[in-house]
Amino acid sequence: MIKDDRFIIAGLGGAKTLKGEIAIGGAKNEALKVLAGSVLFKDGFSVENIPEIEDVRKIIELLERLGVKVEHSGKNFYSLDTTELKEFSLPADISKKLRASIVITGPLLARFGKVIFPYPGGCVIGKRPIDMFLSGFRKMGANITEDGETFTVEAADGKLVGAEIFFKQQSVTSTETFMMAGVLARGVTVLKNCPVEPEIVSLGEWLNECGAKITGLGTSTIKIEGGDLLIGEGKTHHTLPDRIEAGSFIILGALAASELTVKNCHPDHLDALTAYLSEAGVNIETGPDWVKVTNSGDEKFTALDVKTHEYPGFPTDLQAPFSIFLTQAEGQSYIFETIFEGRLNYFDALNRMGAKVKVLDSHRAIIDGPTPLSGREIESPDLRAGLAYVLAAIIASGQSVVHNVEYIDRGYEEIEKRLVSLGLEVKRVSGDDKNELCQCLPQN
Ligand code: EPZ
Repeated sequence: MIKDDRFIIAGLGGAKTLKGEIAIGGAKNEALKVLAGSVLFKDGFSVENIPEIEDVRKIIELLERLGVKVEHSGKNFYSLDTTELKEFSLPADISKKLRASIVITGPLLARFGKVIFPYPGGCVIGKRPIDMFLSGFRKMGANITEDGETFTVEAADGKLVGAEIFFKQQSVTSTETFMMAGVLARGVTVLKNCPVEPEIVSLGEWLNECGAKITGLGTSTIKIEGGDLLIGEGKTHHTLPDRIEAGSFIILGALAASELTVKNCHPDHLDALTAYLSEAGVNIETGPDWVKVTNSGDEKFTALDVKTHEYPGFPTDLQAPFSIFLTQAEGQSYIFETIFEGRLNYFDALNRMGAKVKVLDSHRAIIDGPTPLSGREIESPDLRAGLAYVLAAIIASGQSVVHNVEYIDRGYEEIEKRLVSLGLEVKRVSGDDKNELCQCLPQN
């Protein structure tokens, strides 16, 4: 049950008046795995540029329950001490809320020869199966027993054995889980059909810095030579900038800014988005660590066909924010969400705001634009659709209330403060303050 904090947002009614710059934080989908990877270490390490978001707070709590000592010694900076790590059973109350918790199962199993975990939680964007995890553990010599929704996995004679694993579907967390399991397995593990997300490469390079022997990073075949516990020896890892947060704000710039610079990012991690936006007619400049969007105010953006794909293709995590942009493009756009079957669940509320979206099936939709949007009360169904609703509320005319912003807090640090710094009127109302909710909005 979430508290239902809400954002009250005063829409710009299509004006492109925002001006300024926004600094990008550390990548959620790298930070969570680097922290999870602490289970492979004999001593521990420090990590900087960690986003102060809910998912990080959850995985830190989970690691502490396993016996890892965590010191939050500065903003976005954490030091971990794994000398007293002893637990191999993931606490269900946290793991069921965090998909990324599944990444800990591999290194825990590799270190202790046993792991107990619940079916993982996370955003409701599809089935989120774990069959590849279970079949991979079996391939590495483990036995699995299932009791309701709890899995107990035990390595034969207490040690995983390296194996060749072909992923039938490209999965970021499956790849990361087995890359880390291979670090402590006996012999060589070869992973095939791996995605090549920058976060996987950065995680692997960090583990290599601390004694792992991983080759093939950035390709679809990753090879890991099993060895001993890793040694952090006081090293500090710098987390990548979050390319999905950067992309979300670049889309905001295209929709509502006269000039917006997104800084502290890696433009080369955003090639798919910037290519699509440029094709639609958005004026984009890129520098070594920044992307700048400018609008004269009378642009006409052209409709596009967008198909999500693993990196370097168009990221599924930007599909919802990008759809808001497509509601303002001239003509008919076509969305093909190839990775998740539950990630088009946010269009009804958009249509109530004035968009013209037709969902064809669980993977495809058509958007007719441009359509002016009007403020509404809308409920975020998940993290990325929640961000998309914030973008819709910003370009709409009138006031909107976006509910369940705790979903957005999972992946975006202090987002309302950064939006206000650009000149927007965004007010957070706690879920406890029922009376604060403005009554002026047309109901859903
Ligand atoms: C990671 O999810 C990210 N999450 C997701 O970001 C991101 O959308 C996704 O990669 C794709 O880029 C984290 O890194 C924590 P999956 P991942 O569930 O790898 C199939 C966000 O908003 N599959 O593995 O965990 C599955 O059905 C989140 O930040 C199996 O078939 O994604 C899907 O089609 C959302 N069997 C595909 O793989 C399995 O055992 C990827 O799904 C596992 C997965």
